[in-house]
Amino acid sequence: MKTSNAGGAVIDQPKSREAVKPAVDKSTAAKPAAKQSKIYIDGKFYSEADAKVSVFDHGLLYGDGIFEGIRFYNGRVFRLEEHLERLWDSARSICLHIPMSQRAMTEALLETIRQNNLRDGYIRLIVTRGVGNLGLNPEQCKTPSVIIITAQIALYPEAVYKNGLSIVTCATRRTNPSALNPAVKSLNYLNNIMARIEANQANADEGLMLNDEGNVAECTADNVFIIKRGHIFTPPITAGALRGITRAVVFEIAAETGIKVTEADITRHEMFVADEAFLTGTAAEIIPLVKADGRPIGTGKPGPITTRMISRFREITRETGTPIYT
Ligand SMILES: Cc1ncc(COP(=O)(O)O)c(C=O)c1O
Repeated sequence: MKTSNAGGAVIDQPKSREAVKPAVDKSTAAKPAAKQSKIYIDGKFYSEADAKVSVFDHGLLYGDGIFEGIRFYNGRVFRLEEHLERLWDSARSICLHIPMSQRAMTEALLETIRQNNLRDGYIRLIVTRGVGNLGLNPEQCKTPSVIIITAQIALYPEAVYKNGLSIVTCATRRTNPSALNPAVKSLNYLNNIMARIEANQANADEGLMLNDEGNVAECTADNVFIIKRGHIFTPPITAGALRGITRAVVFEIAAETGIKVTEADITRHEMFVADEAFLTGTAAEIIPLVKADGRPIGTGKPGPITTRMISRFREITRETGTPIYT
């Protein structure tokens, strides 16, 4: 497997017993990373070794819970309100009562970053259904658990943003919304993991997931965009794409620069004949896509619109967000 994979490498790495890895971009961290991070669980902070959940938590037993992956840059949390809104939407959809207000969640999250003395990094925010018995009935679980983990993640090497990624189409289809709606960011990512395994086995950087109609839904952890004759297209949420926060930033940048974006069904053929393509996600940020199923996309190099998107996105991430240290 290549090291430059999008989406999976950063957030899939279990690091519970390892020292936190230094970020590639050391210049942006105000202070050195703590050797062991402090993890928030239900109002208290624990060392990595002591941060544990019950084996009877339905988050573990059934993947019953929800999460968000959030980044902070330059001492500010990027798009925090949007992430919390999506978390609350996921909760409502699965009838999970988050045991605190959005305001209290914001404070818990900011305090976790402060406790870890970080200015740039990644936050994993998790709400599990809580402790129950071995039956799947969520009514057994009286109190959901809130877990907040920070990491000073290694960014993809700059070369990946310059040279782009390759994808393969996976046989594993995105879950049909009538089974489990992909708009719910649940702890059950087995569908995406099965596709990720296919991408790994094909030695590709990411896996493209289609919906039941055979149209593009998204990648295993990123939204997909193509560009044809200066016009940007991305699948609608109804095609099985997560309502990505980074995706929304692309819409904003496009509006600001006068580039048209249309949410439309995209076939593999349209992907193959696109002039440019890119992926978006909190972990991957905006990353060029240069090969799909062995076919070079456009010139096989990141195109001009993608490159402009990346540089504007970087400006926005460094200049906006909820201040952590006030
Ligand atoms: C399945 C899936 N699609 C898309 C995304 C990108 O969404 P965002 O930009 O909000 O991180 C993610 C990442 O959270 C994801 O897990």
